[in-house]
Amino acid sequence: MNPLLDLLKPYPFERLAELKKTINPNGQLKHIPLSIGEPRHEPPAFVLDAINKNHSGLAKYPETKGLPELRKTLSCWIEKRYKLSDGQIDPETQVLPVNGSREGLFSFAQAVINQKQKDPLVVMPNPFYQIYEGAAILAGATPYFVNASERTYFIPDYNSIPASIWQRCQLLYVCSPGNPSGQVIDKPLLQHLIKLAYEYNFILVSDECYSEIYQDENHRPPGLLEAANDMGYTDFENLVVFNSLSKRSNVPGLRSGFVAGDARLIEKFLLYRTYHGSAMSLPTQHTSIACWSDESHVEENRQSYREKYQAFIEILSPVLEIQAPPASFYIWLKVPCGDDEKFTSKLFKEQHITVLPGSYLSRTTGHANPGLGYVRIALVAPLEECIEAAQRIRLHLKRYKEE
Ligand SMILES: Cc1ncc(COP(=O)(O)O)c(C=O)c1O
Repeated sequence: MNPLLDLLKPYPFERLAELKKTINPNGQLKHIPLSIGEPRHEPPAFVLDAINKNHSGLAKYPETKGLPELRKTLSCWIEKRYKLSDGQIDPETQVLPVNGSREGLFSFAQAVINQKQKDPLVVMPNPFYQIYEGAAILAGATPYFVNASERTYFIPDYNSIPASIWQRCQLLYVCSPGNPSGQVIDKPLLQHLIKLAYEYNFILVSDECYSEIYQDENHRPPGLLEAANDMGYTDFENLVVFNSLSKRSNVPGLRSGFVAGDARLIEKFLLYRTYHGSAMSLPTQHTSIACWSDESHVEENRQSYREKYQAFIEILSPVLEIQAPPASFYIWLKVPCGDDEKFTSKLFKEQHITVLPGSYLSRTTGHANPGLGYVRIALVAPLEECIEAAQRIRLHLKRYKEE
């Protein structure tokens, strides 16, 4: 067997299942799951129509490169969203469909890491989306964690990274809007990272799968390609972005996303994907075209999350320090007792609510673990359930204080 498999860590949800295994939750209350970042809003109605209209495509092998119409739709969406010029993203060479950004983020590392170079590093945020770590390990590289803590407003502390690390870095994963914090990396910082990528010749991957779930319609999270374009780096050398329909269109089961950026990297990635066998089914491709071509359902989606944040925070702010982040559908909550596992267990036992301990999303570096003492709450349930959850959490905290 591949010995690198033994280095993979249990996934956060396996650890959560283990934690909950011996706990008997309060059976009087309906379970409210707020742990998984799986949107539970309805997908747009046209999704079913598109699947129905295109099911005959199941009888055909799709090409890994994807339909020209899909690549064209993706290029146009990227150019419009990130204020690039018309035709700047070449659908032939600069964009590919992926079967959800998770699949793409993982396989990209397998395609680009050069194990022949000494001690390759993959730099990633901490806390993080665990796929980055697994991707690095299985590609034969070592993960290097950059802490994102309260001190740095939950943005990874890139200034803390010494030149010796950048010299070994082959790949930098950036996640903005961030999971779990929902914080957004501003354009100047993205541009600083782009300069580092050129200076040290590493590849910068930006995971932007929460880019369309934001609070302020006048302040959309900036993207990596936009930041590069504004610096005059119009061919996006060393840069790629991943995005997805899962959060934007509430279709995590469709498994549809894209990668876009540096044509040289996309070409090699396509070669890798051809062997890897990751072509997207034709009905999924047609459905994806419909989803990327419509913004009204995404606007409605954002509005629903805003309403949930507002209601949730209104109920809890009298008893907790709690704020809505600029983007995503998460709340990264500092727990009053300081122990994220204990808070999660008690909340499950007494209030039948599941949240995710922050330490399951992070690693200890030096003496610090930036996830310790936090829980991630995903406001994915319908509004009424989120309100009910907030009320139960408030009650729970009141009892906890009285203990
Ligand atoms: C930060 C981040 N990146 C990527 C993904 C993968 O999403 P998908 O594969 O559904 O596009 C997720 C899913 O939760 C995520 O949180």
